[in-house]
Amino acid sequence: MLLFKEVKSIKRYLKSEQAKGLKVGYVPTMGALHEGHASLIKRAKAENDICVCSIFVNPTQFNDPKDLEKYPRTEGQDIEILVGLDNDVLFYPTVSAVYPKGLHIPMFDFGQVDKVMEGHFRPGHFDGVVEVVYRLLDIVEPDNLYMGQKDFQQFTLIQHMLNQLASKTQLVVCPIIREEDGLALSSRNVRLTEENRKNAPIISKILHQLNDWLEEGMTIKQVEQKAIDQLSKIPDFKPEYLEIVDGYSLQAIEKMSDSDYVVVCAAVWTGDIRLIDNVILKKS
Ligand code: PAF
Repeated sequence: MLLFKEVKSIKRYLKSEQAKGLKVGYVPTMGALHEGHASLIKRAKAENDICVCSIFVNPTQFNDPKDLEKYPRTEGQDIEILVGLDNDVLFYPTVSAVYPKGLHIPMFDFGQVDKVMEGHFRPGHFDGVVEVVYRLLDIVEPDNLYMGQKDFQQFTLIQHMLNQLASKTQLVVCPIIREEDGLALSSRNVRLTEENRKNAPIISKILHQLNDWLEEGMTIKQVEQKAIDQLSKIPDFKPEYLEIVDGYSLQAIEKMSDSDYVVVCAAVWTGDIRLIDNVILKKS
């Protein structure tokens, strides 16, 4: 695996490989790699000639400085995982390499897409995500970009950004990878207490039950409330939001027939760890 820390050198390398007609797939990460990341890398490797993975804990997307401080950093282990996956290129830049003085990032207008759910509860978070992904894409210039469905609002915004840029990069969204008990994989899971880890799969269990409740005749509002009530009963759990939304605009819908793409997204505090998850309820 090749390792680059400098923007100039990775750009030079990738440009020369792309000039030979080789296709580049890109997996941006913040490290603390797990099977979810591995699934993105495997797919990128299968569909491209070169797989680039970046590890960069982006300070501008942490609206809570304590979250940034506590974010797991497992460099040695990450490199072992990448080598084990036969990843081709690791980009591991410093903050000043990603954000040099005088860097210009364009402003994007996402309408209401970045205002709801994560955007509402984590003010500034998506400004940081969009800023860093824009910058990283400008460096790597991949043919294909691989992101996980787990961060549903994140990949939706990035798709909007790519559309606004009329970018050549295609976004490939990969399914959520779950533990056997249903818990969606996340770098933050390692920080769960034993008790909260035991209860955490209840989130996905409830999200997967919503279609049954809707089929029984409950309204969307009733289903959302029932799910929130059930989550609130779990010791140490505090649901922040649970919303059934249109999968493109991420705006609330009143009836399932309002959209052909419906997803339920949720964020739940489990002690001091915030978990997010989602389930696609309908896609036709
Ligand atoms: O999903 C993540 O790990 C991050 O938000 C990303 C896309 C790597 C940007 O820092």
